[in-house]
Amino acid sequence: MQALILAGGKGTRLRPLTVYTPKPVVPICNRPFLLYQVDTLRGAGITNITLSLSYQPQKIEQQLGDGSDYGVHIKYTTEPQPMGTAGAYKFAEEHIREPTVVFNGDILTDIDLKAVIRQHKERNATATIVLTPVENPSAYGLVETDAEGRVLRFLEKPKAEEIKVNTINAGTYVLEPSVLDLIPAGENYSFEYNLFPDLLARGEKFYAHVPEASYWIDIGTPERYLQVHHDLLAGRVGGGKQFERRGTFESATAATIDEQSVVANDCVLKPGAEVINSVLGEGCYIEEKARIENSVVWAHTRVGAGAQVSNAIIGRGCHIGRSAQIERGTVLGDKTSLTDYTYTGDAQ
Ligand code: GDD
Ligand code: MG
Repeated sequence: MQALILAGGKGTRLRPLTVYTPKPVVPICNRPFLLYQVDTLRGAGITNITLSLSYQPQKIEQQLGDGSDYGVHIKYTTEPQPMGTAGAYKFAEEHIREPTVVFNGDILTDIDLKAVIRQHKERNATATIVLTPVENPSAYGLVETDAEGRVLRFLEKPKAEEIKVNTINAGTYVLEPSVLDLIPAGENYSFEYNLFPDLLARGEKFYAHVPEASYWIDIGTPERYLQVHHDLLAGRVGGGKQFERRGTFESATAATIDEQSVVANDCVLKPGAEVINSVLGEGCYIEEKARIENSVVWAHTRVGAGAQVSNAIIGRGCHIGRSAQIERGTVLGDKTSLTDYTYTGDAQ
């Protein structure tokens, strides 16, 4: 078994965070996102991993290298232009020799991958797709199955009146190499719009795997990016997800950091600063009486005295002026500088 991670999307819904940082390596509790997927694969004994890139590929290669730091072997393919999800798998054909676990490069889950692979083999399936329940399937791929778990229908981004079940495509597949023959070379081709409907039309053995209760999230919007942090901080994600809660940093005795918060190396917290249910990246500087709550702050950002940051995402190298009030839903791109007393949203 080998793996392919689809990591070529532009991450438009995560802008401005993804202007300088491609979505696959946005920091999650200060670790590049893809490392959580690498951990899941390694945990299932899969060490041969191909990353399928398109947008800002050098930035991703730079961070993950050949994978040896993480106990795996990583190869890269870079499409000249985005080929679509199935087109990207076809483009990686020369690296694909075995049945392959394919991950969408923006989902975080604590699923038991070994169980998925076991079931795929037992059923002698051509393709297995993992499902997860969500409240509103309209932003996802809707999947209907029969009682034996055979996929009956796949409908990407369904309209309200088309939604009859709540199970969606969780962005994890096991594919036999024979699937490659069904994808035209050199064309933009999609798993969701083309290949899956085609597998159904051909009557191929296309099965769904419905995991026991497991954590699942697509990190591709600011709300969900923040949500995954809160879930990790609160210990709601299983599967031994690793991140470092406390680096080596400087904190005044009169500063407060609650137990769940993550503070990276080289941060400075001045007297009266408060960090609550939040993540601070490396080298952040939090001045007197500034309060950071339910937020994620990327590396090398400075928060001025008395400023309040609540339920917000602050990019790298920002400067938040003193007494500023940054409210729920605010997302600031790298190097944003806010004048003293700035407020956002309904702060006043
Ligand atoms: N290499 C490559 N080339 N990767 C791509 C391309 C491409 O042309 N297009 C998209 N990707 C990658 C993205 O980087 C992302 O990791 C993954 O494929 C899925 O693309 P998204 O743009 O995030 O799709 P989505 O979230 O709207 O929907 C997909 O994921 C849902 C689960 O999160 C679909 O697979 C849905 O069916 C599914 O429910
Ligand atoms: Mg997505």
